[in-house]
Amino acid sequence: MAGMKVLVVGGGGREHALAIGLSESNSVDSIHTCPGNAGTSMVGINHNVSATDVDGVVALASELSVDLVVVGPEAPLVAGLSDSLREKGIPSFGPHSEGAELEGSKLHAKRVMESLGIPTGGVQILRADSDIDAALARYSPPWVIKRDVLAAGKGVVVTEDVEDARSFIEDSISTDGFVLLEEFLTGEEASMLVIMDESGFICLPASQDHKRVGEGDTGPNTGGMGAYAPAPVVTPTVRQRVIEQIVNPMHHHLRNQPTPYRGVLYVGLMIDEEGAPSVVEYNVRFGDPETQVTIPLIDSDLGLILLAAAEGRISGMEPVFSKRSAVTVVLASEGYPGPSKTGRRISGEETRIEEGEITAFIHQAGTVRDDDGILLSNGGRVLSATAIANNLPSAVGAAYAVIDEIQLDGSHYRRDIAYRAL
Ligand code: AMP
Ligand code: GLY
Repeated sequence: MAGMKVLVVGGGGREHALAIGLSESNSVDSIHTCPGNAGTSMVGINHNVSATDVDGVVALASELSVDLVVVGPEAPLVAGLSDSLREKGIPSFGPHSEGAELEGSKLHAKRVMESLGIPTGGVQILRADSDIDAALARYSPPWVIKRDVLAAGKGVVVTEDVEDARSFIEDSISTDGFVLLEEFLTGEEASMLVIMDESGFICLPASQDHKRVGEGDTGPNTGGMGAYAPAPVVTPTVRQRVIEQIVNPMHHHLRNQPTPYRGVLYVGLMIDEEGAPSVVEYNVRFGDPETQVTIPLIDSDLGLILLAAAEGRISGMEPVFSKRSAVTVVLASEGYPGPSKTGRRISGEETRIEEGEITAFIHQAGTVRDDDGILLSNGGRVLSATAIANNLPSAVGAAYAVIDEIQLDGSHYRRDIAYRAL
């Protein structure tokens, strides 16, 4: 077969990593991205169509006659992008809207987990007539409060301050009608990306994100400030438990739905001191920045794997994974995760290290080139420095050597990515 033409939907670091992985696949001839960023434009062709414009993306995929669409973010999946693409006979990597509700509604995800006996924290649903103080008293602090809306990781507050907890609960009830109060899970977090369709599933190497903005896991939650893989907290025993207690039952459930789930299931895990896993959240897409450290560890042809899942043939694939380590450090704009300053000039993005077994380079995210070709910041998370090496300490050293070369006024990044594993 002639090489594939692939459309990647989205414009973050995750999509730059997917586009690079696809560009290194023998099965892929050309890559298109919508809307993409300044990084994806070096790998393929960017199209000025928003990822959330479902009709626009479908029209673009048809016009380009692509062989495969790979959907990065959750919003278009929840809005039915994969449903519309499949109606047109275009293979899409990413679940249909019903499957996407596992991320679209945290309450729905909890109910599915409860019905399947999948380990997860307890939850209370609070509404205008609920006794908030009694609900808070039922769990010991810190309290975990989640709005049931897509909020890019920012609709969640974890706090020990009872006043903050109460006011977030009250504000959320007044905007959304209800809010979830979850039992706090202790342990270490990890992310498992599982490529899945009705025929089977493949667990990718586990990774660990750093969700808080500040060093030592302090400050507000973000979309993710850095990640590394593989995550040693997911030992072979833990991995086996995750498969038996969490992935198998969910796969069994999803494969028996009227429309099969074809894409990636992101399992956000908490691993307690005894190595018992429970689910913090499901996402229905690749993680960002987990993708930047996971894709480089897949030695097999990424295009063939993603196409197989989009066509319900994943059980026939036996991908080979690298034994190496990968790390990515996110550089964010001034103000992130609050309102951030964009439109500022970036330099140093071409920095690359190729030294022996070490490779390090930049994944771009919130970047754009102006009419004069100047690179400007265009989002909260601007870029990340990714390194792949034979061991984690070498990878961490190389990623920081690259990110230290980036100049962007007011930008910040964490100095302690991967500290738990070092
Ligand atoms: P979520 O959007 O549900 O992933 O929540 C964002 C982050 O909040 C997670 O990655 C955790 O760091 C933290 N978190 C969420 N739920 C819990 C929980 N039940 N126990 C402890 N931490 C949590
Ligand atoms: N890095 C967390 C996420 O993508 O949801």
